[in-house]
Amino acid sequence: MHVTKAVVPAAGLGTRLYPVTRSQPKEMLPLGTRPAIQGAAEEIEGAGITDVLLITSAAKRAVEDHFDPRQSPGQSADDDSSPLTARYYCTRQAEPRGLGDAVLHARGFVGDNHFLVALGDCVLISDEPSGPVKRMVQAHAQFEADATICVQTVNAAGTSRYGIVEPGDGLADGVIALTDIVEKPGPEAAPSRLAVAARYIFSPRIFELLEEVQPGYGEEIQLTDAIRAMIAEGRRVLAIPLQPGEHRLDVGNFNSYGRAFMRSILTDREYGPDLREYAAELVQYLADDSQPDPDAPREES
Ligand code: UTP
Repeated sequence: MHVTKAVVPAAGLGTRLYPVTRSQPKEMLPLGTRPAIQGAAEEIEGAGITDVLLITSAAKRAVEDHFDPRQSPGQSADDDSSPLTARYYCTRQAEPRGLGDAVLHARGFVGDNHFLVALGDCVLISDEPSGPVKRMVQAHAQFEADATICVQTVNAAGTSRYGIVEPGDGLADGVIALTDIVEKPGPEAAPSRLAVAARYIFSPRIFELLEEVQPGYGEEIQLTDAIRAMIAEGRRVLAIPLQPGEHRLDVGNFNSYGRAFMRSILTDREYGPDLREYAAELVQYLADDSQPDPDAPREES
């Protein structure tokens, strides 16, 4: 089973980033030298995706324009060769009725295929480019799963921010069968500390289940509820945990965005070395203002 199609939901309101996202999509905020959603696109193309449906809205024209083939999405100041080679299509979600509703918009595009869902406001980084999604694709085929979800270990607060899975048997190294999943349960009710990490693979069965689920947490159509129904009908749903050194860079709120941007720019091949030096000096100065202010004018050495 080959996974070549992906759906990238990018139609959410991004209210946690107001006022920054009042008139611009959060998915277009930079992570280092590229918009977050381009990072997600490069990541999934690296795992074999050739056709991508972007779920947008009237407020997300900048996303649609960014992937316009005439605009060369990968373009940097001194390089006009785009690193993106997949075909990109757009469809609009009329109302932001939740992630499940966004995915449902991909039904015609996906047809009878298994497909990837990659949230457009997150990038998974790994020493091996596209490592987590490649492992998901591999396990999904090997164990003939109906859903395969990337997960990460979170602290107690994280159980109130993400869908949390209930792990069952380990099927192989780094492959866990799931027995349940709950949307943002909070630390008391959380069945584990393993949180859904922005990447999913599904069989088309997910669409029938999404048609049936009622609005759940936040009055939205929750993808988590359809996955739960999938587990309840005895289908195989897997989790692939992020490994040490692999991280989710998440644009969702100012704290996660600040960290994600810093990590991206500080590890950038071109700008990282200078900016790491600057960051170290700035941190010293902020802790002790008798230290040199790195933004004060200085004589060139
Ligand atoms: P979030 O729940 O993080 O996004 O959705 P949000 O609703 O935009 O955020 P806040 O809570 O208002 O700040 C994760 C991903 O799913 C997309 C978002 O664009 C984001 O990439 N999404 C969410 C949709 O495409 N449609 C929706 O109805 C909801």
